Amino acid sequence: MPATVYIVIYSLYGHIYTLAQEVQKGLEASGVTTKLFQVAETLSDDVLQKMHAPPKPAIPVIKVDELTEPDGIIFGIPTRFGTMPAQIKALLDATGKLWATGALSGKFAGTFFSTASQHGGQETTALTTVTYFAHHAMIYVPFGFANAHLFDNTEVIGGSAYGAGTIANGDGSRAVSDKEKEIAKNQGENFGKVVATFVNGRSTL
Ligand SMILES: Cc1cc2nc3c(=O)[nH]c(=O)nc-3n(C[C@H](O)[C@H](O)[C@H](O)COP(=O)(O)O)c2cc1C
Repeated sequence: MPATVYIVIYSLYGHIYTLAQEVQKGLEASGVTTKLFQVAETLSDDVLQKMHAPPKPAIPVIKVDELTEPDGIIFGIPTRFGTMPAQIKALLDATGKLWATGALSGKFAGTFFSTASQHGGQETTALTTVTYFAHHAMIYVPFGFANAHLFDNTEVIGGSAYGAGTIANGDGSRAVSDKEKEIAKNQGENFGKVVATFVNGRSTL
């Protein structure tokens, strides 16, 4: 049976959703089965309107118990004050029963992220999410420097050893670049290979 990986995102302005679609392509290239979810919104329609939020992506909203279904989960996280947004925290804070029963223990976890600026906290966003994985005994899979674009300082390129990333600009005007998409796809493929290795006992890495 193929391994399964869920991609769980929050995306207010679409950057994380764009990265998620590339991560999904990479996962599928590695042979795993994937599903893309978003977390529930916690902001009111009034606030969303004031924030000029576009319509949500047409993907299902994940329920807490669905986190137990896949072999691995990659979280797509748009930075809020250098860490995850409350919408993702609300999902994770609702996993007490799963923690108490060890339901996520041994599952693989990964992260990718988006910030307004290059210096806005991509790495702190990943690292502050790792505490949840540790408490759940999930196995965090970093990306490392598996894609050469992470060494390229000639242009703005998001991402790090912790996962793919994009730089959105404060007004969201910067689109995810081709190199950032490539890194995201690469992360999906590598993550999928790790999970498939665990599930099927073989490695192509
Ligand atoms: C309340 C709030 C806090 C934010 N905090 C940060 C931050 O600490 N660093 C940063 O670079 N961007 C910050 N941003 C910008 C978001 O990270 C950016 O809009 C997001 O990554 C875009 O992803 P999306 O298009 O998927 O929503 C913040 C945005 C909001 C609304």
